[in-house]
Amino acid sequence: IDADGRKTFDLTLQSGETDFLPGAQTATWGANDTYLGPTLRARRGDDVRIRVANDLAEPTTLHWHGMALPGAMDGGPHQMIDPGEIWQPHWLIDQPAATLWYHPHPHGRTADHVYRGIAGMFIIDEHDTDELALPSDYGVDDIPVIVQDKQFDGDGQLSTAEGPASLVGVLGDDILVNGTHNPHLDVADQRVRLRLLNASNARVYDFGFDDDRRFALIGSDSGLLDEPVDSTRVQLAPGERAEIIVELHPGERTTLRSYPPDLGMGFPLERTNGGHDTFDVLQLRAADQLRDAPPLPGTLASVERHRPDEAATTRTFELEGFSRINGREMDMARIDQTIPRGAVEIWEITNASNTYHNFHVHLVHFQILDIDGDPPPPELAGWKDTVFLAPGQTVRIISRFDTEPDPDAPFMYHCHILDHEDAGMMGQYTIA
Ligand code: C2O
Ligand code: CU
Ligand code: CU
Repeated sequence: IDADGRKTFDLTLQSGETDFLPGAQTATWGANDTYLGPTLRARRGDDVRIRVANDLAEPTTLHWHGMALPGAMDGGPHQMIDPGEIWQPHWLIDQPAATLWYHPHPHGRTADHVYRGIAGMFIIDEHDTDELALPSDYGVDDIPVIVQDKQFDGDGQLSTAEGPASLVGVLGDDILVNGTHNPHLDVADQRVRLRLLNASNARVYDFGFDDDRRFALIGSDSGLLDEPVDSTRVQLAPGERAEIIVELHPGERTTLRSYPPDLGMGFPLERTNGGHDTFDVLQLRAADQLRDAPPLPGTLASVERHRPDEAATTRTFELEGFSRINGREMDMARIDQTIPRGAVEIWEITNASNTYHNFHVHLVHFQILDIDGDPPPPELAGWKDTVFLAPGQTVRIISRFDTEPDPDAPFMYHCHILDHEDAGMMGQYTIA
């Protein structure tokens, strides 16, 4: 932070080699590293400046997933950074505390660039004045958990070979957490906060513990929930986040696992798209003496609800096949929607295909009004920016679109299955 209150970050996108499996180096990409990138942290009110240098041999972008900012700073497919170039976005953080992330977004190449390893967390911290007794000592009791599945070939090289009858692209058999294979975490506190991010290209996880212990779900994609939700499972599709708080007893071990997710695809596609898979994700090893943690607050945030009667417009989006929204594939030269600045809108999204999708909207955080006509369960009732849709499902979301109009810097909405996004399941909107 400089004297003018600016918070500056330097990121260099680079290629290198990483040994995920013992003795096997494989080609990877990262930011300031050979795989993944640093966690960036800021607070509401911060004036953030980022210097992104592209040292890769091909053009890419860096998108701030979940961030409310002007279109020219968004890092979508219109903000390409050529090899050797530097891009310097800046914006004022003006949104609630949340676990966001960043990743490349070049049109048609996002799946490849993310899979090679460029991604990182962008945490918006609570203010001390929020007086929330949540674990927030980064790396000690506040832990980033970036979950990705990878496929390795017989020589330990990263591979994108797809399984038979996958409708979503590569589904790997190996899980990495923060780039580590078979990870464990030594815990010295009675309560630990895990910031779960599904940064996989296509795989859906249903997180829970091997001993089925209960945990408190405290946050979804774009902010804290009103109050903790007592849970044993939380399902995350690519791009989604959840913050959970787990309690440990001295000396015990428990393993965060992914149980078979409910993809709603039926036999046999449920199985060929990961719906029967179980993985161990991260083992927690509690020390023999644990530091006491204050009790979990009963109230976390007051999430202001958008009401359907505030909405000026309802737009409908039909997801078809693997590449179309409302019958069309992404066209960089076509603006699909124009939204008046400050408007509250309802978007009704229907999955009209036989595979799952997850719909993400840039710029905004939204609330889910209903899923197939029913109100969302508590874990989906907070701020979201990405929502899962099983085949046949319809979800209505509501949000306010508010940033400076810029006809030359559209925002994207798209399926966050990265192969679908690259194939064209994406559209563009501008604020007018
Ligand atoms: Cu996480 Cu348009 O992206
Ligand atoms: Cu995004
Ligand atoms: Cu999709």
